[in-house]
Amino acid sequence: MTVRHFLTLMDLGRDELRALIYRGIEIKQAMQAGKVYQPLRSRTLAMIFDKSSTRTRISFEVAMTQFGGNAIFLSPGSTQLGRGEPVEDTARVMSRMVDAVVIRTSSHSMVETFAAHSEIPVINGLTDRFHPCQLLADVQTYVELRGNIDGRRVAWVGDGNNMCHSWINAARQFQFELSIATPHQYRPDTTLMDMAGDVVTLHDDPEAAVRDADIVVTDTWASMGQESEKERRSAAFRPFRVNQRLMQQAKPDALFMHCLPAYRDHEVTAEVIDGPQSVVWAQAENRLHAQKALLEFLLLPQK
Ligand code: CP
Ligand code: NVA
Repeated sequence: MTVRHFLTLMDLGRDELRALIYRGIEIKQAMQAGKVYQPLRSRTLAMIFDKSSTRTRISFEVAMTQFGGNAIFLSPGSTQLGRGEPVEDTARVMSRMVDAVVIRTSSHSMVETFAAHSEIPVINGLTDRFHPCQLLADVQTYVELRGNIDGRRVAWVGDGNNMCHSWINAARQFQFELSIATPHQYRPDTTLMDMAGDVVTLHDDPEAAVRDADIVVTDTWASMGQESEKERRSAAFRPFRVNQRLMQQAKPDALFMHCLPAYRDHEVTAEVIDGPQSVVWAQAENRLHAQKALLEFLLLPQK
């Protein structure tokens, strides 16, 4: 059987992704009902994290514990990767010891190289290009609160970054309309935009993007690794702050989403992120349930 990876949302078929979302909801409900479910006893997930993380690290570690397995957290500096052992060799070695790997690093091509030489599933825990695990949780959150996301309108306001790229892929896979408002010099990747066709549109004006939206979503203006650009970015992004006035352009029952960590009064006002339309804590919680569904999909035989 060929091994499946999850490096972007495009690695799964549309039906597989939909099933994963509903399985995440089912797993969450069973857990809330107090059911113990340990399908990954004696299994090990290795986690190579080259960047900071609160949610991704904790949710994968807790998922493995609750599933009856183990997670090993590895910072590259503490492994031979940090001393120049080839990624290919690391992938071959880890394939013989653990059952799956989550990688968080800047370089998306490093994760692709690892996956190409891995005999076990590789999960992208965030690269500079994509953050697909977050989208599983975000779509799950919308489905739980409002029903199917197909045909809905999503507005992305802010940086054309890794999260924006994953929303573009989600629009393709789940067939919703995505309107993106970014400063000109921070637009998302043009190849990804071209592949998305007419489900994704670009705007200079945040109000135009948000009009009649079902979801308004943003992210930090300076991603990990861009700390030195903070001031320059803040100046360019100021008109793209999500505030209550902007939210009023969306549908009255629109949800506000943010993958977190958030910087209040930069990309979003406290009034919005701490207000009644915000579902950021549900998104964070759903990282656990959605990734359990993902681990199950990648590690257990499919019925
Ligand atoms: N949203 C997210 O991935 O958060 P962490 O960086 O804390 O993992
Ligand atoms: N765009 C952010 C997402 C953090 C979860 C970053 O890459 O830092």
